[in-house]
Amino acid sequence: MIIGVLKETFPGEQRVALVPALLPMLQKKNYEILIESGAGMAAGYTDQEYLDKGAKLGVDRAQVFKEAQVILQVRGFGSNPEAGADDLQHLNAEKTLIAFLDPLGSAQHAQTLAKTGVRALSMELMPRITRAQSMDALSSMATLAGYKAVLIGASELMKMFPMLMTAAGSIKPAKVFVLGVGVAGLQAIATAKRLGALVDAYDIRPEVKDQVISVGGKFVELDIEEEDSSDSGGYAKAKSDDFYKKQQELLQQHISGMDIVITTAAVPGRKAPILVPESMVHAMAPGSVIVDLAAENGGNCALTKAGETHEVNGVKIVGPLNVPSSLAYNASAMYGKNITTFLNHLSDAEKGLHFDLEDEIVSGTLVCQDGNVVHPRVKDILQPEQKASA
Ligand code: NAI
Repeated sequence: MIIGVLKETFPGEQRVALVPALLPMLQKKNYEILIESGAGMAAGYTDQEYLDKGAKLGVDRAQVFKEAQVILQVRGFGSNPEAGADDLQHLNAEKTLIAFLDPLGSAQHAQTLAKTGVRALSMELMPRITRAQSMDALSSMATLAGYKAVLIGASELMKMFPMLMTAAGSIKPAKVFVLGVGVAGLQAIATAKRLGALVDAYDIRPEVKDQVISVGGKFVELDIEEEDSSDSGGYAKAKSDDFYKKQQELLQQHISGMDIVITTAAVPGRKAPILVPESMVHAMAPGSVIVDLAAENGGNCALTKAGETHEVNGVKIVGPLNVPSSLAYNASAMYGKNITTFLNHLSDAEKGLHFDLEDEIVSGTLVCQDGNVVHPRVKDILQPEQKASA
């Protein structure tokens, strides 16, 4: 069976879905790898490195689509709605596509994808269960984003992070506050700490306190009712408007003295909660910085502009997009490892590539096959549209 790896076409996307070092793992399972020429260049992987590991080079995109039965991408159609539309003509019932497809954010694109007949599995939908940890690409990318958020904040700040005692006087350490301690938040705390900052952190789920302490941060507890903040999967639950209002009031006293606030709060399937309202930005000192990692999902700060850095009363608000792409070398290696493990999981010694719908990892990620959207959550999103058009 041939696995095709395409060059990414989303504007600014530098990652690639598979890196040369991973090829032997797939070849052992009798897969051949066909790479679109130049696919890895933006991430720092040359065609020659893929050839050295036994890949074949496709002269163009059409050849890869024609010959491969499995297509790997970072951003497939849905996650790349404009440029990705050109790929639809090459997809059919003979092909399996594995990529980020954003099926919950753009379910109508999942429906368009389904109409091609392709079997498509979305990496965003990988269940966060222990068995699937090594395939969890969102967590891999969030780890990188949490690290980079600190560097972005540090480069916008007019202060150093570490405490320094010099002949010219002493410099106080910078104060960093991390709001939301999931994967990205935890990595942000660890990174800021390593750079020498004093780091405080808060999450709606009090059970993360020990993790915060383990990477050198201080966990801030708010005097607010926080029962039932996690769902059965360990994710945060959405709260009422009154809860968020109270939370904002209590957070203000902690945030106003901070040099950098990194926000990463997320509730699955929802717009990001607003935790930093305009009044809180006004309470911060000029020169301080907010890095809002949730910018892609509406932002945790009310004043965030996605993809932009702007100033309000001297406070810089950064809303970075596609942060993992800026660390494309490592991001590609991690994403590639997640996808390779996933492919191995799907490979049966006798049946070859096999999709067992009894397996939560398969049913959880399978978006469409045989011309239909099959994922229950994506179907739920589409239902009102289907009713309206009936
Ligand atoms: P996660 O689900 O692991 O963590 C989110 C955390 O937010 C959870 O610990 C949750 O308890 C917490 N949270 C939810 N509501 C809260 C509230 N009201 N107050 C305090 N904490 C609250 O998510 P992950 O993977 O760490 O991602 C974090 C964010 O970063 C997401 O919005 C994600 O989309 C974004 N992200 C952005 C990237 C970019 O390029 N801009 C790249 C990767 C992730």
